[in-house]
Amino acid sequence: MNKEEMVKEIRCLLKERNALLLAHNYQRDEIQEIADITGDSLGLSIEAANTDKDVVVFCGVHFMAESASILSPDKTVILPRMDAGCPMADMVDAEALAEKKKEIPGVPIVTYVNSTADVKAISDICCTSANAVKVVRSVDGDTVLMTPDKNLAQYVAKQVPEKNVTWWEGFCPTHHLLMPEEVIKAKEDNPGALFMAHPECAPEILEHADHICSTSGMYEFAKKTDAKKIIIGTEMGILYRLRKENPDKEFILPSDCLICPNMKLTTLEDLLESLQTMENVVKVPEEIRLPAKAALDRMLAVPRD
Ligand code: 13P
Ligand code: SF4
Repeated sequence: MNKEEMVKEIRCLLKERNALLLAHNYQRDEIQEIADITGDSLGLSIEAANTDKDVVVFCGVHFMAESASILSPDKTVILPRMDAGCPMADMVDAEALAEKKKEIPGVPIVTYVNSTADVKAISDICCTSANAVKVVRSVDGDTVLMTPDKNLAQYVAKQVPEKNVTWWEGFCPTHHLLMPEEVIKAKEDNPGALFMAHPECAPEILEHADHICSTSGMYEFAKKTDAKKIIIGTEMGILYRLRKENPDKEFILPSDCLICPNMKLTTLEDLLESLQTMENVVKVPEEIRLPAKAALDRMLAVPRD
């Protein structure tokens, strides 16, 4: 089957199964091209919660499909590649976090959505890169523990100086590959270019950033800025829509290493097969789902702009 035939067959099956196709902003170009909706973790979880379709096909990584299943238990949630995980999510496990919780009674645990359902279940509230600052401001008390991303936590700590933000030692291995020298060189090579970066980048990268935001925040910033050249501090999948939506602007990737191998696993073949077999169902057991949903619901209740 060639690409065109495959796309046709996928579209046909999506209709037949009454399915919504969601794709994260880091997915391969051909997956983003065919998706009903592309977006960041926050945007996609809201779409998954609000759809009236029977099936949600999530082209992303495992925690994203889990979040969709937590929010929409009556829907069938399909992850085309069951082996698409997130190494950062695996850097905190529920047992270790439960131990920590005992040591710090009363300290709210703010968990990044890049986490497993059982970690969410013992957290007070979730956050994404798009709302982490607002979420931390919204919780009671002077101290919070953020899991699992130490970089997001350090970024939030700077934005919310009135709180003592502590963190777990997790990080995104992909964003950690970006070196400060690469950013400095890209800036030197492209005078006048702005640098926009994801808060999963290390503090020594973020100190060079002109704008720090979630992946969807990058689309908004790229549209409204007058800058004609923008250096990107996140996974290269973001380039597909940035270039499509801003043909008059140049987007520069400062490093060849900004590729998340897990996000790149899903191919059109995988998507087609998952729709044919409907076997790759992600379902969270009810005893985990309910407390995890409470943490996600608290996040979704935090007012957005
Ligand atoms: P956002 O798309 O929510 O900014 O998250 C980035 C990410 O790493 C997802 O895995
Ligand atoms: Fe996880 Fe980083 Fe890949 Fe996002 S980019 S899925 S945080 S490893």
